[in-house]
Amino acid sequence: MTLDNRKSIVQARKIVKIYDTGSVKVEALRGIDLDVKRGEMVAVMGPSGCGKTTLLNCLSGLDETTSGNVFIEGTDLARMKDDERTEYRASNMGFVFQFYNLLPVLTAVENVEMVLLLSGIKPKEARRRAEKALEIVGLKNYEKHRPSQLSGGQRQRVTLARALVNDPKIVWADEPTGDLDKKNSNEMMQMMKSLNEKLEMTFVIVTHDPDVAAVCRRIIHMEDGKIVKDVPITAKDALVHPKGIDYTSCGDRDTGSARISAQEKASM
Ligand SMILES: Nc1ncnc2c1ncn2[C@@H]1O[C@H](COP(=O)(O)OP(=O)(O)OP(=O)(O)O)[C@@H](O)[C@H]1O
Ligand SMILES: [Mg+2]
Repeated sequence: MTLDNRKSIVQARKIVKIYDTGSVKVEALRGIDLDVKRGEMVAVMGPSGCGKTTLLNCLSGLDETTSGNVFIEGTDLARMKDDERTEYRASNMGFVFQFYNLLPVLTAVENVEMVLLLSGIKPKEARRRAEKALEIVGLKNYEKHRPSQLSGGQRQRVTLARALVNDPKIVWADEPTGDLDKKNSNEMMQMMKSLNEKLEMTFVIVTHDPDVAAVCRRIIHMEDGKIVKDVPITAKDALVHPKGIDYTSCGDRDTGSARISAQEKASM
C-alpha cells in the first residue's frame, strides 16, 4: 500500500485558536486545515510565535480549539469527555517535549514505566516494556540512573523511550532536539526515523533546525497562524520558508508559554 492510500490519522478542519488574556486577544491559529496520514513523518517549521506549539497542543487535544474540529482516527476530540480524551492520549499518543519533565526522584526505568502503570498494565510487564524501550534508545545500562545523573541527550532519550513505550500510533515532538548538540540531535532523529520506518509510527515534529526537518518526509511551513507551504522533502525548496526566513539563524530556543501551560497536562 502506498502512503497516499493510507487513512488519515489526523484531520484538522478550519481550526482557530484565540488566546484571550483579558486585555489582548491573540489569534494564534487562523483556520488550519491539515491531514496527516498514518506512517507519515512531518516537520512543522516557521518563525517564533507563528503558532507551531499551539498547533501541536490543539491537534493532540492538550488544548482546546476556539473553533473548528480535530479528528483523530475519525473521532472528534472535542466530543470526548475529559477522561476519555486523557485515556485516548495515554494509549495512543506519545509526547517528546523539551520541558516535558522527567520526575527527578524516579530512575530512568521508573520514569518510563510510569506511563504504563498509570494505564493499568501490571508492574512486571510494565518493567519489561520500559527496559525494552530504554534499550531501543541506547540506554540499556542507565536504567537505574536518576535524571540528574544523566546528560541532556540521555535525558531526552528517556523522554523518547517514555513516548514510545505505550506503542503509540502518533508521536508529537516539540523541538525534540532543541537542547542537544549536533551529534545527539542526529542520533535522536535517526532513532525517530527508524521507529517511523520499522513500526510505521507517525511523527509530527516542530523544529527550527533544517537538519532535523531534513530527516522528515514532509515539511509544513507556518506563518502568522496559517500553513503557508506544505511539500514533500523531495521538493527542491522544501526547507525554504516562502518568506525566505533563514532557519539556520533562528536558534532552537523556545520560550512559548503555550507549551508550558498545556504541555504540563501531558505529564499527568
Ligand atoms: N497561553 C497563552 N496565552 C496567550 N497567548 C499565547 C499563549 N500561548 C501562546 N500565545 C501566543 O500565541 C502565539 C503563538 O504561540 P506559539 O507558542 O504557538 O508559537 P511558536 O510558533 O511555538 O513559537 P516558538 O518557535 O517561539 O516556540 C504567540 O503570539 C504567543 O505569544
Ligand atoms: Mg513553540
